[in-house]
Amino acid sequence: MTNKNEKREHISVLANEALSFFADMQIGVFFEGTVGAGGHAKAMLEAHPEIKRYIGCDLDPEALEIAKETLKPWKDKVELIHGNFAQLDEYLKERKIKTVDGFFLT
Ligand SMILES: C[S@@+](CC[C@H](N)C(=O)[O-])C[C@H]1O[C@@H](n2cnc3c(N)ncnc32)[C@H](O)[C@@H]1O
Repeated sequence: MTNKNEKREHISVLANEALSFFADMQIGVFFEGTVGAGGHAKAMLEAHPEIKRYIGCDLDPEALEIAKETLKPWKDKVELIHGNFAQLDEYLKERKIKTVDGFFLT
């Protein structure tokens, strides 16, 4: 049974594995297709202060609300999109972004 007042916990799995892939890279623009509550995004933004733009997308509006709070310190770099990552091309075209330096679907 779930207690109504219980705080929902969002735990990012595989954060270290996901991060290590980009360890030696310089990243300008990053796209995360399943940003969820923003755990991986926070870790990426901490590890890569050179990131200029972090676009995070998710189908779950509740998770995006949490991500918005989590990623507040980077609010000038972060854009959250409520949508399906399958529309990545469209999102990039709308923003006149030709390439991304990396992406997660984790
Ligand atoms: C494991 S969680 C993501 C964890 C997140 N990366 C983190 O750092 O905590 C998976 C997420 O994928 C989202 N999702 C699943 N299919 C999707 C799709 N086609 N487009 C966008 N988001 C999707 C779910 O809403 C859920 O928030």
